Amino acid sequence: MYHLRDEFPIVREYVYLNHAAISPTPTFALFEAFRYLYEVSQHGSLHVNKVEEGDFANLRKKMATFINAEPGEVSFVPNTSFGANMVIHGLNLGKGDVVLSDSLEFPSTVYPLYKLAQRGVNVKLVRAPPEELEDRLVEEIGEGVKLVSVSHVSFNTGVTLNAKRIAEACRKVGALLLLDVIQSAGALKLDVKEMGADFVVAGGYKWMMSPQGSGFLYVRKGLVPDPPLYGWKSSSTYMEFNAEKFSIEEGPRRFEIGTIDVAANLAMASVAERLTPLRDEVERRVRELSGHAIDVAEDYGLEVITPKDRRAGIVVVKVDQPRKVAEELLARRIVVSPRGEGIRISTHFYNTEDEVDKALVAISQVRGRAR
Ligand SMILES: Cc1ncc(COP(=O)(O)O)c(C=O)c1O
Repeated sequence: MYHLRDEFPIVREYVYLNHAAISPTPTFALFEAFRYLYEVSQHGSLHVNKVEEGDFANLRKKMATFINAEPGEVSFVPNTSFGANMVIHGLNLGKGDVVLSDSLEFPSTVYPLYKLAQRGVNVKLVRAPPEELEDRLVEEIGEGVKLVSVSHVSFNTGVTLNAKRIAEACRKVGALLLLDVIQSAGALKLDVKEMGADFVVAGGYKWMMSPQGSGFLYVRKGLVPDPPLYGWKSSSTYMEFNAEKFSIEEGPRRFEIGTIDVAANLAMASVAERLTPLRDEVERRVRELSGHAIDVAEDYGLEVITPKDRRAGIVVVKVDQPRKVAEELLARRIVVSPRGEGIRISTHFYNTEDEVDKALVAISQVRGRAR
């Protein structure tokens, strides 16, 4: 796996610890996208039709294998928000139904619920400190709850929820679980069947290390047969181009509705294919590096917001004036993000302990000045 570091030329320019924001695309995935665009420039529709064969069967299979789903359960979506909306507005929820999320979420899992509130749906947000969030969510999953919409790994605290536990609580009351996995897919090994989530969604540009415009939506077989939006590709007979003939597509294309970003999704599928045999190793390495970051931060007397036993690839270290600290680090060519109450360090498998150490030395030096 370590040889894959060669696929990230960015390491020559930066200490890059910002995968929770945007990942650099590894060269092999970039070439996959480029090859497609080049072939289209040379052969136009002939090449497009070739790749689209069987409704992108080849791409769907790679993504499905990566998350242990069936190819018929995986759709390509332009971003997390689009996929989440397809699910949230595809459940026909109404007055009296309860949907549950929490106040620490990235807005993409929560704002679509506000649209449901306009129809009389009761939107409940759990407010709890990071280490208590999971327990509090489980407590709140009671009668009347129809959907729980949360992220697997939190963008601003790094807390990883036990998806299986939440899914079990949901099942007991007949609620469905929508899991935003943009901060876990590509870092942690995801097995949708094992996790028990009903819906899983992620853009590809974070830990999947793929271009913006790539993304995937898993919808458990049998759910949301009739999506909330229709486009020309929504029809089972779309290749007839007949505006008067329509029957809803039963396969995963029903969520794609129009042309997808083929180049970006080809790159994402190539990452999925490359990482599939390495998933355990990648997860172990990601957690090893984030564990190292926590240990070193604590050695420097920094307060760590991320609970160590619930970490994935994100570690948030508390500092005053996070923006200023991040800017000072950037001046030293160390890339991190200011998030919440601190600096977010997000290490992918190809990073090194040395890079983590450099970032934490810099934070410990700079934080005094930024007070
Ligand atoms: C948890 C989470 N969900 C979603 C997104 C982004 O959503 P989208 O893919 O719709 O741009 C982010 C980006 O930071 C995120 O952290």
